[in-house]
Amino acid sequence: MTRLNKIYNIKGMRDAAKARLPRIVFDYLEGGAEDECDLTENNISYDRWKFKPRRLVDLSTVDPTTEILGSPASFPGVVAPTGLNSLFWPNGDIALARAAARAGIPFVLSTASNDSLETVAAQADGERWFQLYVIEKTLATSLVKRAKSLGYSKLVITSDVVFNGKRERDLKNGFGLPMRYSLKTIFDGVTHPAWTMDYLKHGTPKLGNLANEELSPEARAALLRRSMDASFTWNDLAMIRDLWPGQIILKGILHQEDVEKSQQYGIDGVVLSNHGGRQLDTTMSPVDALAKISSESLEGRILVDGGIRRGRDIVKAKALGASSVLIGRAALYGLAAAGEEGAFKALTVLKEEFEGCMKQLGCSTVNQLTSDLVEHASQQENSRSI
Ligand SMILES: Cc1cc2nc3c(=O)[nH]c(=O)nc-3n(C[C@H](O)[C@H](O)[C@H](O)COP(=O)(O)O)c2cc1C
Repeated sequence: MTRLNKIYNIKGMRDAAKARLPRIVFDYLEGGAEDECDLTENNISYDRWKFKPRRLVDLSTVDPTTEILGSPASFPGVVAPTGLNSLFWPNGDIALARAAARAGIPFVLSTASNDSLETVAAQADGERWFQLYVIEKTLATSLVKRAKSLGYSKLVITSDVVFNGKRERDLKNGFGLPMRYSLKTIFDGVTHPAWTMDYLKHGTPKLGNLANEELSPEARAALLRRSMDASFTWNDLAMIRDLWPGQIILKGILHQEDVEKSQQYGIDGVVLSNHGGRQLDTTMSPVDALAKISSESLEGRILVDGGIRRGRDIVKAKALGASSVLIGRAALYGLAAAGEEGAFKALTVLKEEFEGCMKQLGCSTVNQLTSDLVEHASQQENSRSI
């Protein structure tokens, strides 16, 4: 039983998740592509940005609330779309969505969720967005129509999973659904009894969104393999634009020209992301991309994810011009450690750290987080050598 009152930061939550999950599941949650350089780089790149706090400002009230593409939020965070959440906790998508609602931030349901669009809409309040993987165009059309009719407010199209990244932990462990039994996985299960009891009680999680869809076995396998319609290009976005009257956000962008192109194609926002280092290793870190990308017309509509483990990371992302961050593994550690309560605690830790960092920096509102408050360590080295 995880004792949440003894957990003070995301690292502590990660330790608790690691203790509860069998190795094969923890590796799926944690793992990155190939040498996993980006797994650490995504986070370390935040630490290379150094604060320049302001002093003697009125901090008698500090307000961490904000708007993310027009949606109110208790701090600049969104729970990122993640697939197979019920592997971490029974009905993991519902638990995460409820935790996000309690924390006052939006939740993004993945195409590869275990709880369906309908179940999550019925069982969780709060603002919900839907993340689309285009596996087949007819399936995409059906999913988008379902999300629209169920009141999901924004559509996030993930663009960086045309082919699955080479995740060597999963290859080594033989990770897949349904789980294959071997001496190793049985030993893994026996030594993590709390997780195993839940798994036996609830059974192998299904891909909830696909249960009632006419789907070829190839498409089903493609989703589990995370390989998408490789012929889907910018021109095909028009088809989805026609179906979805609300805001569309393109996730997985890192190149300046793609940011510009997204505007030509009627996209409302982008998520600078390398998929948490799970797709192409040694991809530029999203926070460094954020610092380089300039787009006046997309101002306030650039989000960023990858490596958010501290509230101060969110402060830096905001200062460098992001509208919000997406929170991936940090929320999943909480979910895996203690379900909805654990995820809520993880989000609360990030929110409190965010607010604490605003105070230390001398900012009483989120709008005061501006680029003059941070400097890249390399600039400090350059100025030393002058
Ligand atoms: C276990 C796991 C599953 C994920 N599944 C999806 C998914 O279904 N769709 C998607 O767009 N991104 C998916 N992602 C990527 C996240 O949305 C996000 O980009 C990434 O986790 C951010 O990095 P962080 O985990 O360091 O915060 C997944 C990430 C993890 C860790």
